[in-house]
Amino acid sequence: MSKYKIAWLPGDGIGIEVLEAAKIVLNKLNLDAEYIHGDIGWEFWCKEGDAFPQRTIDLLNNVNAAMFGAITSKPVKTAEAELVPELKGTGLIYRSPIVRMRQLFNLYICLRPCKAYPGNPLNFKENIDIVVFRENTEDLYCGVEFNPVPQELADVLTKLSKPFATFSKMPLDEYAVSTKINTKKGSEKIIRAAFDFARKFNRKKVTVVHKANVVRATDGLFLDIAKEVAKDYPEIQMDDANIDAMTMWLLKNPFNYDVLVAPNLYGDIISDLIAQMVGGLGFGCSGNISEKLAVFEPSHGSAPKYSGMYKVNPIATILAAKMMLDWLGEKEMGDRLEKATAEVIAEGKIRTYDMGGSNKTLEIAEAIAEKL
Ligand code: IPM
Ligand code: MN
Repeated sequence: MSKYKIAWLPGDGIGIEVLEAAKIVLNKLNLDAEYIHGDIGWEFWCKEGDAFPQRTIDLLNNVNAAMFGAITSKPVKTAEAELVPELKGTGLIYRSPIVRMRQLFNLYICLRPCKAYPGNPLNFKENIDIVVFRENTEDLYCGVEFNPVPQELADVLTKLSKPFATFSKMPLDEYAVSTKINTKKGSEKIIRAAFDFARKFNRKKVTVVHKANVVRATDGLFLDIAKEVAKDYPEIQMDDANIDAMTMWLLKNPFNYDVLVAPNLYGDIISDLIAQMVGGLGFGCSGNISEKLAVFEPSHGSAPKYSGMYKVNPIATILAAKMMLDWLGEKEMGDRLEKATAEVIAEGKIRTYDMGGSNKTLEIAEAIAEKL
């Protein structure tokens, strides 16, 4: 019996290629693991009406961790589902399986470290080292959305909200409602995770990202809780910024920032911005984490136009594998993997097209494996 069971979820598009690259380095490290394939992605939505089939959910209930590649997320309305023969008449609406997975397994932490590895020609500035904690289950991602708006909802909103009265006179199919729901408990958990991380790794500051000047109810709640939680961590400085200003300040002086914590959507946006500052999506790695299960992935998508070309940079996924090793408690292996990756970046001999080279996806993995 292997020490670990790892669910292996390539998904579709370039997800398949980048996970192949991750397997090369994990095999070289001799991680004592059994990798179990799981079906997920666009293909299964088309075939079965479910992009995240029950058998894959069952698999995730029985593993220590998972590696996930990427999936094609398309906004599909019922009318479009009618065009897929297998789904005709089912009224199904496609929802992103990764978002569902985060919610189903309460993977409430989305951890996104953004580090500028020395010698990466794509670094915006050298020495950037920012860690994003993104709340991963609530907020505008909660999936409570209406288009068209049901009459009952229009009635309640008209009754409860004066400014809303202008909309309420409109026909129900003339507007749409997406709700942003943030709980006290969910906000506190992600904020504590950020402060605990700062304490454990000797980080100096946690910056809370929000838009509480306008979105008072939900972001106001998030910010209030952050101020309370911060009192338990007197050695760590806390500050906060509105999401819009934050994007400017990050570009102006990234060295002012250390650990960031944000509700789901702002965390999504800001982590792409910071990933670009350390080399782009080819370097953005991500962990979806709870106490029981963690799913690691590159933060890029399935890039259908590059699918099957073995062209894209696998480093984001290899760094996600490093995060998995750390989470499993295999820190020594994780450190070795990061060091080997940093060496390949610094040497600059083997590079994918995004870094100005012409090497293929698996050649990068092999170059890293060589140094392990
Ligand atoms: C990410 C992605 C996902 C998200 C998409 C694919 C649903 O952008 O992991 O950041 O919005 O969370
Ligand atoms: Mn994203």
